[in-house]
Amino acid sequence: MLESLVQDERLSVYVSEVTQTAKVTIYDVSRGGAGVARLESGQVVFVPWTDVGDEVEIEYKLSDERFLQGHPISWIKYGPGRIEPKCPYFGRCGGCDWQHLPYDRQWQIKLSGVAHALGRQGVIFQALKEFPAEIQWSYRNRAQLRGRGQQLGFFARGSNTFVGVDRCDVLDERINSLLPTIGQEAAAKFTGPYKAEVALREHGSVDWAFNQRHSALGFQQGHPAQNRHLKAWVARNIQGRDVLIDLYGGNGNLSAEIAGRFQQSHCVDVSVPEHIPGNPLVFHRSDVDRWLKRHAESFKGRTTSVILDPPRAGLGATIQLLAPWMERNGTTEVVHIGCDADAAARDISRLTKLGFALKDCGVVDLFPQTAHVEVLAYLVR
Ligand SMILES: C[S@@+](CC[C@H](N)C(=O)[O-])C[C@H]1O[C@@H](n2cnc3c(N)ncnc32)[C@H](O)[C@@H]1O
Repeated sequence: MLESLVQDERLSVYVSEVTQTAKVTIYDVSRGGAGVARLESGQVVFVPWTDVGDEVEIEYKLSDERFLQGHPISWIKYGPGRIEPKCPYFGRCGGCDWQHLPYDRQWQIKLSGVAHALGRQGVIFQALKEFPAEIQWSYRNRAQLRGRGQQLGFFARGSNTFVGVDRCDVLDERINSLLPTIGQEAAAKFTGPYKAEVALREHGSVDWAFNQRHSALGFQQGHPAQNRHLKAWVARNIQGRDVLIDLYGGNGNLSAEIAGRFQQSHCVDVSVPEHIPGNPLVFHRSDVDRWLKRHAESFKGRTTSVILDPPRAGLGATIQLLAPWMERNGTTEVVHIGCDADAAARDISRLTKLGFALKDCGVVDLFPQTAHVEVLAYLVR
């Protein structure tokens, strides 16, 4: 399998862009997912699908940057910890970059990556609560697939090159079993390339939509079992009883179960449903910045508990609106969930500078077989 990987035509996607070759030994795996090696020039080169101890021939673009991207052409020797990737599309499909690492190693790299990101931002924390994934395959309840005729697949890493797949080992089998049906339906509708968004619902049905914007079927956390850990952690930490504000709240995944403890509970998201029957949250379909401006003083004199679950880039400039909003509206506690370690660490650091103290911090794995990680933080003031 590894031999066939190195000779596969997919590598030509990358080779066409590069000009130099080198033999390197991987000495680390970065939290971004790639193996790390050093060229004779002293430059650091990141090489996907590699592990510590791998000796690899790589190609890379000549540059005087300190950090370069390399692409493996062939393996001279495998490192001692490397395992056989389960999926036949490993290395071709842009999905799971870490199938060659045993799960324990994946988890340790995620943990140390988060600790490092927090440390770089000067965030002081006691210990990270750990929620590694018990279910490491067939977990994913949603996917964004690409299609050509009846053939569904994904894009290759960092490109728009189509890689057809007959199944995906991290997808829930209820989705895998419907791929032929979805492909047939699409082939009857489209002559050119298309996109298929597929989501497995909580009660077991599968929905799909073609050529819609990302998350058109509504955002849902991709790993249901790990999502239960995430929700339970939020519920354990949040103490307030007055007003709950779930910003970037989606369908209220993190707040619906605790909303009953509060006098009022609000969920704000650009793609939020108007109303979910039986759900105690008040939903606001709005951009967070606009909502903060519109409700600048709506909760003055009360005590607010705020959940923040922003997209990958973190809070960005929204913190400038949020900071005075939290002052005016009596925010005493904040839960921050971040799906990028560096962005999350930056947000947590900014919250501590606003006078919040970090009380609990953790890592939950919603994406086994990939380098993605979710950082949890609970802060009070
Ligand atoms: C990481 S998801 C979290 C969703 C939810 N908390 C959950 O656990 O399912 C981020 C959410 O932010 C929403 N979003 C992104 N940018 C936004 C913005 N500027 N204003 C409001 N919502 C936004 C997306 O629609 C998405 O539902």
